[in-house]
Amino acid sequence: MGIVLSLLSRQESKVEKLVKQALGNDETLYAFPDEPFYAYDHVKLYNLDIPTRPAAVTYPKTPQQIEAIVKAAAKVGLAVQAKSGGHSYCNFSSPDGGIIVDLRNFKKFSMDTKTWRATAGGGMLLGELTEAMYNPHKRAMAHGTCPQVGIGGHATIGGLGPSSRLFGAALDHVLEVQVVTADGQILRANETQHPDLFWALKGAGASFGVITEFVLRTEPAPRDTVQYKYSFTSGSWGEMAAVFKSWQRFIADPELPREFATTATITALGLTVSGTFYGSEEDFEQLSLKPDFPLRHTGEKTAVSKNWMDVLTHQAEEVALKLGGGISAQAYTKTLTFGGSEQNLIPDETVDKLFDHIERADKGTLIWFLIFDLAGGKVNDFEMKATAYAHRDALYYLQSYAISDNIFNGVSRTTKDFLGGISNLIVSDMKADGVFTEFGAYPGYVDLELGAGAQAMYWRSNLPRLEEIKADWDPTQVFRNPQSVRPARQRWRSS
Ligand SMILES: Cc1cc2nc3c(=O)[nH]c(=O)nc-3n(C[C@H](O)[C@H](O)[C@H](O)COP(=O)(O)OP(=O)(O)OC[C@H]3O[C@@H](n4cnc5c(N)ncnc54)[C@H](O)[C@@H]3O)c2cc1C
Ligand SMILES: *[C@@H]1O[C@H](CO)[C@@H](O)[C@H](O)[C@H]1NC(C)=O
Ligand SMILES: *[C@@H]1O[C@H](CO)[C@@H](O)[C@H](O)[C@H]1NC(C)=O
Repeated sequence: MGIVLSLLSRQESKVEKLVKQALGNDETLYAFPDEPFYAYDHVKLYNLDIPTRPAAVTYPKTPQQIEAIVKAAAKVGLAVQAKSGGHSYCNFSSPDGGIIVDLRNFKKFSMDTKTWRATAGGGMLLGELTEAMYNPHKRAMAHGTCPQVGIGGHATIGGLGPSSRLFGAALDHVLEVQVVTADGQILRANETQHPDLFWALKGAGASFGVITEFVLRTEPAPRDTVQYKYSFTSGSWGEMAAVFKSWQRFIADPELPREFATTATITALGLTVSGTFYGSEEDFEQLSLKPDFPLRHTGEKTAVSKNWMDVLTHQAEEVALKLGGGISAQAYTKTLTFGGSEQNLIPDETVDKLFDHIERADKGTLIWFLIFDLAGGKVNDFEMKATAYAHRDALYYLQSYAISDNIFNGVSRTTKDFLGGISNLIVSDMKADGVFTEFGAYPGYVDLELGAGAQAMYWRSNLPRLEEIKADWDPTQVFRNPQSVRPARQRWRSS
């Protein structure tokens, strides 16, 4: 025990020395594990279910300081991970025994009012970014609904939200970046300059560098917007299955306008169909006259017409109600993307089995959600090989989510098996049915249960090219986490 402790402290002091040197001994720019409240004040893990103890948290102010940190870490073989909003569902921005590069000092924003390109620091939170774009410019980009998520982790992994059918994924807005690479260079990358690196950063960013600045395409913010919600909470699970089937048929209509975003959320209370329509109330009413519109079933509707900013606030409230938003929790999340062809729907018989299973299964917690999210639209205009992001062929995906309702225990095996069981039921039933579906997982919702197959699920047909680029840009895996891209021609060196 004594030997282990002294080895540990010697190791830490070596890291300390390197970090202090890299940051010019400015003690406001780093923290080490021996500090009281280190985990609470500095590591600040979003998912409290995962213990982790990084060797140092750093708060650089310049790209040159990041360069120095990366070089020092590479020299001693420590992992480096950028941290933007800290909303990874795992500890990926807090490498165990590695160095966190917290980008809280990278929040500079400017807007070129000729090109309407925005330049945003790699540590901006989505809430800060939308505010800076909308006030006073009335510009916008697509992204998810939680304002505390960071652009750094979001626009490097995907970034899907209600306006993605209109504008694309968050990473489809990225025109150029400034990035610190594993060999400590500070580079600008875009489609013509270091195009391979740029390609990899748009979908697998954490494996390739620390982005200090994004140049972003913006769009005029939509004006009229309808926020709607229909709740089906009084009927039987069988009746809810019927509503779900009509929701599926409705979203499969190739004529469905891109202004229409929708999710079908199943909880212990029942089924809710909700979303945003970027258009007028009249156009929304027209849409709701179509056959299969879920409104045609009995259900309670609340619709409000608001502007872009009000709607974002509303969406943020919804996500806070559901997922806790900015509040840390003991959480587990899982996704299933339905690729191969945009026409892949879950067969009606499978839907029946699914709702039957949901009714009976032991869930191990009261707080669980199955969220079926319509994707497609502009996201799928891009070719699969256009960026590292690899789910351009999915019309919708399932995000399942559970929070432990017992703060003394983490998310239980029963709960993980419940969510895993839902995915397995759908996959095996659709395979048996001969439906041509390629299943995958959205890398934005980190799922440790995927084990060794995670990368293939996340990046699918783009994985081989990513592994080649990793071998070129980061062969020793300075940027690594349990599910990062491994370099081609070399085995993953365990840390
Ligand atoms: C409450 C909640 C709601 C969410 N809602 C949505 C949603 O609506 N749509 C959606 O698509 N996703 C959503 N997500 C998932 C979210 O997009 C990802 O977890 C995202 O990676 C978080 O980014 P971050 O910067 O906040 O997290 P961090 O933990 O800071 O980073 C996550 C990963 O990205 C890397 N990274 C961070 N910054 C940089 C950078 N500057 N350069 C290179 N790599 C970097 C980190 O190293 C880490 O591996 C949600 C997550 C939570 C917790
Ligand atoms: C996250 O924590 C676990 C221990 O709970 C550890 O095994 C794993 O390596 C950590 N991940 C990272 C990126 O450090
Ligand atoms: C990429 O950056 C270089 C250098 O700044 C610039 O000359 C080039 O026009 C940029 N290319 C694109 C496609 O933006």
